Amino acid sequence: MLSTLVSSLLLVVTLTGVLPYVASSSGDVGVLSNGSPGDHLLMMERFHGWMAKHGRSYPTVEEKLRRFDIYHRNVMFIEAANLDGRLTYTLGENQFTDLTHEEFLAKHTSRPVAPSDLVRNEEETVITTRAGVVEEGKCKAAPDNVPHSINWADLGKVTEVKDQGEICGACWAFAAVATIESAYAIAKGVEPPVLSEQELIDCDQFDDGCRVGLMSNAYQWVQRNGGIANASTYPYHERLQTSQNKEKDGTCEEAKLREHAVTIRRYKYVRGNCEQQLMAAVAARPVAVLFDAHNYCFQHYKTGVYNGMCFHEEKLIGPCTSDHLTHSMAIVGYSGKGNDEEKYWIAKNSWGDNWWGEEGYIRLKKDVADPRGLCGLAIEPVYPIV
Ligand SMILES: *[C@@H]1O[C@H](CO)[C@@H](O)[C@H](O)[C@H]1NC(C)=O
Repeated sequence: MLSTLVSSLLLVVTLTGVLPYVASSSGDVGVLSNGSPGDHLLMMERFHGWMAKHGRSYPTVEEKLRRFDIYHRNVMFIEAANLDGRLTYTLGENQFTDLTHEEFLAKHTSRPVAPSDLVRNEEETVITTRAGVVEEGKCKAAPDNVPHSINWADLGKVTEVKDQGEICGACWAFAAVATIESAYAIAKGVEPPVLSEQELIDCDQFDDGCRVGLMSNAYQWVQRNGGIANASTYPYHERLQTSQNKEKDGTCEEAKLREHAVTIRRYKYVRGNCEQQLMAAVAARPVAVLFDAHNYCFQHYKTGVYNGMCFHEEKLIGPCTSDHLTHSMAIVGYSGKGNDEEKYWIAKNSWGDNWWGEEGYIRLKKDVADPRGLCGLAIEPVYPIV
């Protein structure tokens, strides 16, 4: 088996070893390099280490070689980007290193939020949508007494980072639940309860399960339902779906709908496009944000303050766009205000705490020139009130 693999690998090396590497079929990335057969064998060893670490196996030798090729390109991109020295953050290998960028987006982010679903809270316009109240007025500075920094995770008010798993794009449910857990813990002065994303995925008819959803809809659903269950009552059970039946979620386990662990009274939008008001809101509790994850470097983020700049064909371009709102996270803290040099948001993601990011968190550049915030994070922040 192994010798078959090695000989077919050598064949592949002979055929493709002199081709330049481009890490994405759509040309998203372009770190060029010529691999030698020796490099390939070392890389294959490294790939086997990576597979073992992530418990990965592939059904056929062909699939394994295809995954190896993608892994190799990603690793070369990661190393070249880190060596270049112009990124403000570091990339690294993680559970996504054998995926192309397109596959990564399809599996781990949601469909884009429709622009018509966004609350319009532009300058001076105040609109009340659904059950939510938009904070009024212009983008005002945060009050002076807002702390210089806060991290609700360090204060014991954030549950452990969860993991959406391999196929479910319900980031909206994870961000909504994270903020409900923290809001409850802060309001009641207790440890955060671990609440159920699966209940939202299966039962919240305002949203679309593993495909797309909005935190505001999720809060509204919890309000109407009268509460949300503990995760221990209604656990996450990512269904093993093939791409063919990805359209099917679980059916709602209605018997559990009355097992209310936490109730929310209402929810509130932070004034859009205003990082100052977002800071004032996060000073009081974690806030859920939409995020444009459509950036090749985001897939490989390891540590540091992410500023949305990434390499494209050896040029540093960016920052990230703000119009593919395909991801959601909970902002659980920040550091720095005023004229500080390094200011960042602390975001809790839902891709596990082992491999991606800083134990599942990412620091995002705060107070950027674009009023929409880095990668659109200030476009529509929202939080629940318990
Ligand atoms: C939810 O979990 C908490 C903590 O374990 C427990 O105290 C509470 O009774 C549970 N609530 C429900 C409705 O299951």
